[in-house]
Amino acid sequence: MAFCIPELFNQPNLMQNGTKKIGLLTSGGDAPGMNACIRAVVRTAEYYGHKVFGFYRGYAGLIENEMDALTSRSVSNIIQRGGTILQTARSKEFMTPKGMEEAYENLKAERIDSLIVIGGDGSFKGALEFNKRYPQISVIGIPGTIDNDLYGTDYTIGYATAVNTVVEALDKIRDTASSHNRLFFVEVMGRDAGFIALATGLSGGAEAILIPDPPTDIDDLVEALKDSYRRKKRSSLVIVAEGDERGGAIEISRMVKSKVPEDLFDIRVTILGHIQRGGAPCCQDRVLASRLGVAAVEALIDDKNAIMVGMKQNKVEYTDLEYAIKHNVTVDPEMIRIAKMLSL
Ligand code: F6P
Repeated sequence: MAFCIPELFNQPNLMQNGTKKIGLLTSGGDAPGMNACIRAVVRTAEYYGHKVFGFYRGYAGLIENEMDALTSRSVSNIIQRGGTILQTARSKEFMTPKGMEEAYENLKAERIDSLIVIGGDGSFKGALEFNKRYPQISVIGIPGTIDNDLYGTDYTIGYATAVNTVVEALDKIRDTASSHNRLFFVEVMGRDAGFIALATGLSGGAEAILIPDPPTDIDDLVEALKDSYRRKKRSSLVIVAEGDERGGAIEISRMVKSKVPEDLFDIRVTILGHIQRGGAPCCQDRVLASRLGVAAVEALIDDKNAIMVGMKQNKVEYTDLEYAIKHNVTVDPEMIRIAKMLSL
């Protein structure tokens, strides 16, 4: 379908006389695609005639009333940028009655009637608690975290880019690992979740993937590594999710080292760290962020409240924030099965 701007503005559903004043913030860990989402929220709101105010540093900016009115022009040229132009933070103060009251007073003074929060689980808890105290401010959550650990959406904004960053790094580590016949332990992000580890371990051809659940058995790991050595594999990559219950890559490499003959493996550790959170969002994240940004504003227009907008099987879905927060997502056992089978 081709469209030009005049055609767009002749659409019958264009409501340029909207009256909503929407507060927008990014909270928790930044994720590539957050800017694309900010852009989508602002432009959709403007399309319907509503106004958006961007608060800086998440809920901290809400408490300190640090904000700017955002227009289509102020979000030009950001769709391709990583990080978040609104910056982000994890505000403990907002979770106190005093912090919430200060935030509410600031919103009331500006006559802002709704809040869109782009973030993860912790950010949604704050939004829901705030909405319970001040139901006159509607809240909508948009899933933005590289961890992909939110209920109610197949993917979160930032995950696709982060796993591509990790796979690129794993390919490079594999080059040096095989050149030196080394065993590498590579730690990836995921404080409570193994989604990044599992997907990147599978696509990086890892010999083992350690995630928080199922529990890691060090003896099994040692046996698997020895076995792969016996089968003439001379380099191995073990992916460790930072949230693994046995520890990070450093601890696990030490445990393995203590259980194998001294000269069997030449072990190295790489912690990929925050490199996983940066960089230009990939196409998939830009599309997801754009669709969810549009969906969030249209949900507000439809008088929805206390929900998260997500994407399931390529369709927008709404999940009650309360429900989304209480339900954990678990990795697909089929992914574990095939990762094990293909690591032979
Ligand atoms: O929530 C996203 C995440 O990237 C986690 O995977 C990671 O544990 C955490 O953020 C790191 O947070 P910080 O930037 O505060 O070190």
